[in-house]
Amino acid sequence: CNVVVLISGSGSNLQALLDSQDEKNAARIRAVVSNREEAFGLQRAQAAGIATHLVRHKDFADREAFDAALMAIIDKHQPDLVVLAGFMRILTPGFVRHYQGRLLNIHPSLLPKYKGLDTHRRALEAGDTEHGCSVHFVTEELDGGPVAIQAYLSVQPGETLESLTSRVHAAEHIIYPLAVRWFAEGRLRLAEQGAMLDGNPL
Ligand code: GRF
Repeated sequence: CNVVVLISGSGSNLQALLDSQDEKNAARIRAVVSNREEAFGLQRAQAAGIATHLVRHKDFADREAFDAALMAIIDKHQPDLVVLAGFMRILTPGFVRHYQGRLLNIHPSLLPKYKGLDTHRRALEAGDTEHGCSVHFVTEELDGGPVAIQAYLSVQPGETLESLTSRVHAAEHIIYPLAVRWFAEGRLRLAEQGAMLDGNPL
């Protein structure tokens, strides 16, 4: 299963995906694409011997042109799956449709709660006792696509923004490689009615 990973930053989720690659894992990361040249994830990919590409959104007149350039580079690697791992650009409907059913994202909240940014602060301010992260198929609705897997954490007494952020991040590093592996094995897929695992609706 050919996988292309899109990043904008540190790439700790990319690292977790790289670390999960072994002969038992059908997922093969073929390329990493960043829209920011300072993204540390590019160095992680290079250290792992993976092809990297830089597509700077600032070099394009609009989202359509940027996404077209992105698609051209991604498709050179003939991906079965495109993984958004901290990719901080909103993708056009055309891009999302092009990769329908083979585009995953990780979001740092228990979706459908807290779509968008600042999720950990919002969960703390709301006094939530549970928080976590979600891997979902990407659809045209931002952070709104069918969920594949979630990690739940109990918010601890005295929990700070920093502690919650780092605990959720650690959970992301567990569930994202799992979802990608399931997809690569043909166990996880997007059907008309939503995400399915082993033929059962999630
Ligand atoms: C993660 O918190 C992820 O949920 C969000 O962006 C962050 C990426 O972190 N979409 P990293 O670059 O993988 O370290």
